[in-house]
Amino acid sequence: MTERGSTTDDIRFNVPALEGRELEYMQQAVTAGHTSAGGPFSKQAAEVLQAETGAEEVLLTTSCTSALELSAMLLDLQPGDTVVVPSFTFTSSALAFAREGAKIVFCDIEPQTLGLDPAHLESLLDDSVRAVVPVHYAGVACDMEGLGKALEGRPDVAVVEDNAHGLFGRWQGRRLGHLGRFATLSFHETKNIICGEGGALLVNEGRDVDRARVLYDKGTNRRAFFLGQVDKYSWMDTGSSFGLSDLLAGYLFGQLEQREVIQAKRRTVFDRYAAMLSPHVADRGISLPVVPPDRESAYHMFYVLLPDRATRDDALQGMRSLGVQPTFHYVPLHSSVGGRKVAARAVDCPVTDDISGRLMRLPFHNNLTEAQSERVVAALLSSVPA
Ligand SMILES: Cc1ncc(COP(=O)(O)O)c(C=O)c1O
Repeated sequence: MTERGSTTDDIRFNVPALEGRELEYMQQAVTAGHTSAGGPFSKQAAEVLQAETGAEEVLLTTSCTSALELSAMLLDLQPGDTVVVPSFTFTSSALAFAREGAKIVFCDIEPQTLGLDPAHLESLLDDSVRAVVPVHYAGVACDMEGLGKALEGRPDVAVVEDNAHGLFGRWQGRRLGHLGRFATLSFHETKNIICGEGGALLVNEGRDVDRARVLYDKGTNRRAFFLGQVDKYSWMDTGSSFGLSDLLAGYLFGQLEQREVIQAKRRTVFDRYAAMLSPHVADRGISLPVVPPDRESAYHMFYVLLPDRATRDDALQGMRSLGVQPTFHYVPLHSSVGGRKVAARAVDCPVTDDISGRLMRLPFHNNLTEAQSERVVAALLSSVPA
């Protein structure tokens, strides 16, 4: 048994993998003596991300959570302002804005992609709304067309994409992370591209770049100083210490160099699960993830929807007893203790409640083998009544 109570031949939910020169680069960062933020690996990693996403500016952060916090600071939220966030997401998507004083308006999701429901969004909009935070769940874009229509005539409402899952995904050919005023990325060890803990803020509009750099660097204009734009740097504005250590940026750059390999591996795992499970959709009442034809998945995860909560919970237990480690996702925010404290008002999110009770994430990582996938599927099928 390991300290996590599992045996060594268990099929773990996630196995973070080294895919290239990560260790070499981390060693280089240490021996070169530049391990703080803003070093050579940070520069190289940010350049790759900028080329991949088309952002005006990429600021590497210590997490997606901190990138969301930086975006919230940049919005200059005032008392009375609200931000619309899906209830079906991680706490950080809402918490970052609540910490800056906004009240949160929780929005339901639509059942196909599990992204923000534009019809519900439209019914929630009023003059207090300063931002909307779409989450591209599992790396599949939400209905950005519907979202755009709902926001027509409201140019002052900022779109902040929480793109923790969606780096390399596309909507109508456009890159996820390049659809909002800001977007955030996660490089947490459970994501496609990892460095332990890490993230990035993508700044998509030129007007935000200078201020974003100041807030990012403890409220100082140090970046402008390094660029030779001012002759000394000093305190200018609010901010915090958001920068990712160059040690971790070395890890990140090593991963980014292998991005095509990583994405291809994850696509293989996804397609394999889909092929193995599709014959059982009807007899077990299982639904598989939907990728609408105008979207390209980032292949962040593979989930199934089971007929009801009891079947899902029994299946989680049954599979764990067979040495397979699936998990659930997310506990709705609108009815959580923390969520109710920051909610602008009570809302019902019935689709969120339903999906949250029925969703199961299967073990999913770059190097999950065919034999392991077969074991996962067999464990699932034996844990769900036909
Ligand atoms: C949608 C979403 N946003 C934000 C986060 C937070 O990411 P991080 O752990 O990098 O702060 C997560 C974490 O999994 C997430 O799923």
